[in-house]
Amino acid sequence: MSEITRISMTFPQDLLKDFDEIIANMGYTSRSKAIQDAVRSFVSEHKWLQDEEGEFAGVLMMLYDHEVKGLEHTLTHIQHEYAHLICSSMHVHLTERDCLEAIAVKGEASEIRRLQDHLSTKRGVKIVKLMIIPV
Ligand code: NI
Repeated sequence: MSEITRISMTFPQDLLKDFDEIIANMGYTSRSKAIQDAVRSFVSEHKWLQDEEGEFAGVLMMLYDHEVKGLEHTLTHIQHEYAHLICSSMHVHLTERDCLEAIAVKGEASEIRRLQDHLSTKRGVKIVKLMIIPV
């Protein structure tokens, strides 16, 4: 077993409440174990694309809070920067605050990854899921 490092984190209350409910339903008895599994899944998801090369096509699904100041402007700006990669996009006003966007992409794996990273690291972006296949 690898060495263990202790870290402390901050969480939005509602996110932690949802997380605790889900892991309790799944049968987790340790929050640390559930967080480790979630991080492992995040790492494997991102590592996969980092190792890929060549042309891919698919959809980026993004959920964000449109009331976060400046976020819509930033997200639009990023999408214009990657216009060569984006074939089409669809916007759904999901709830009072949340917007769902489906962004169809086609291009180099490394570029799709960079676009995903630019979008997902912005404050107010809650989820960015990528579903792609090699072309
Ligand atoms: Ni909207």
